[in-house]
Amino acid sequence: MERGNFGKVGVILATAGSAVGLGNVWRFPFMAGQNGGAAFIVLYIGCILLLGIPGMVSEFIIGRHAQANAQRAYDTIAPHRHWRFVGYLGILTSTIILGFYAVVAGWCLQYLYASIVGQLSGDADYVTTYFQTFSTDPLKPCLWAVAFVVLTHLVVVRGVKGGIERAAKILMPLLLLLLVVIVVASCMLPGASEGVRFLLQPDFSKVSSSVMLEALGQAFFSLSLGTACLCTYASYFTKDTHLLASAGQIALLDTLIAILAGLMIFPAAFSVGVQPDSGPSLIFITLPNVFQQAFAQMPVVGYVIAVLFYALLVFAALTSTISMHEIGTAFFHEERHLPRPRAALVLTIVCSVIAVLCSLSMGAVDAISLFGMPLMAFCDMLTAQVMLPAGAFLTSILVGWFVSRQVLRDEFTNRGSLRATLFPIWLCCVRYVVPAGILLIFLHQLGVV
Ligand code: TRP
Repeated sequence: MERGNFGKVGVILATAGSAVGLGNVWRFPFMAGQNGGAAFIVLYIGCILLLGIPGMVSEFIIGRHAQANAQRAYDTIAPHRHWRFVGYLGILTSTIILGFYAVVAGWCLQYLYASIVGQLSGDADYVTTYFQTFSTDPLKPCLWAVAFVVLTHLVVVRGVKGGIERAAKILMPLLLLLLVVIVVASCMLPGASEGVRFLLQPDFSKVSSSVMLEALGQAFFSLSLGTACLCTYASYFTKDTHLLASAGQIALLDTLIAILAGLMIFPAAFSVGVQPDSGPSLIFITLPNVFQQAFAQMPVVGYVIAVLFYALLVFAALTSTISMHEIGTAFFHEERHLPRPRAALVLTIVCSVIAVLCSLSMGAVDAISLFGMPLMAFCDMLTAQVMLPAGAFLTSILVGWFVSRQVLRDEFTNRGSLRATLFPIWLCCVRYVVPAGILLIFLHQLGVV
């Protein structure tokens, strides 16, 4: 079967496109805001370096070794067939994530529209009511969420090169440009420096065990780690892609963009005296206010910045939803032998159903809850704090302890054409540091240690 391949730039842009998403621009700022700003960021960077990058390389190796979808990739590299369940777990996790992610992405589409037609201008109460009325509406957010899944579908059916790589090459540079424009505007506001300090000066008194777990979950979520997403993308890498260097570059870009997103939001928020810890509604309730108040003297600038901001969110979300969609699409295409458009359709339908249920659980239908949480919050918690770490844990056990050292070394060094100096360090991380780190944080959360 003819499979696509990413080009050299495509490898970085497509994978970074997967990594950079609402996780960076929506989830990271409110997580940092609620968990003490800079202290959270320090823990987060620690998780990226010690657990994230080694984990990324592990998934890259599994995917590129097999050049196949997640399930077959785990099957090919593992000594026993039951490891394929880690592949299944990844496919399941990313499908659930796409479901609730599409809801937030749909809100972004609505806010892009609303900011263009000027519906977001009004006082603070108006903006709050606007979000509450909109997000609890039974119909509108469902339609936007499904629209987002369909948009994703339209890219994915075009294939690996013509769809995914091309979208990333257009959207990623645009995203960076918009981000830099808004960061500059935000940091030039009066009193912005307090926001910068909040992000860069750690206050470790806020650090608790749950903050550790949140930082870990956020790091994995942001790198798209633990759900076979990187493994699926790596199956489109060529044999001469430098896996470690790519992982490093992507992690760096991802972290940089998360911090820039913070620098875009907090200086503006502090400048108008808004508290940074308003949670998930930060970018939908707090920011429209911030944009208006901050640019009260120049309403046109406020308008343009708001439109650019929501456009940026949509671009960031799209390159990520594409990657979650591709995991399942590749699986149904290659393992169930469906033509690619049909395989994509299966995923689009399943994810649309999850998205509609999650969206309704936000207020329209109170009954859609699990363990006392709305389905939306439950899916977020279940995937980011349980399924992702579990997937990453099992993957590191597989790679560290069960795959032959020769296979790992061959993939790590591109069959000996790269230096192997870092190979033992990486292997040591994958064998001990990653599983122990994930386990410790889990046990700590449960109160065992
Ligand atoms: N990393 C993306 C973000 O930061 C989200 C994402 C894309 C993801 N693909 C994934 C998360 C696969 C987990 C698994 O927004």
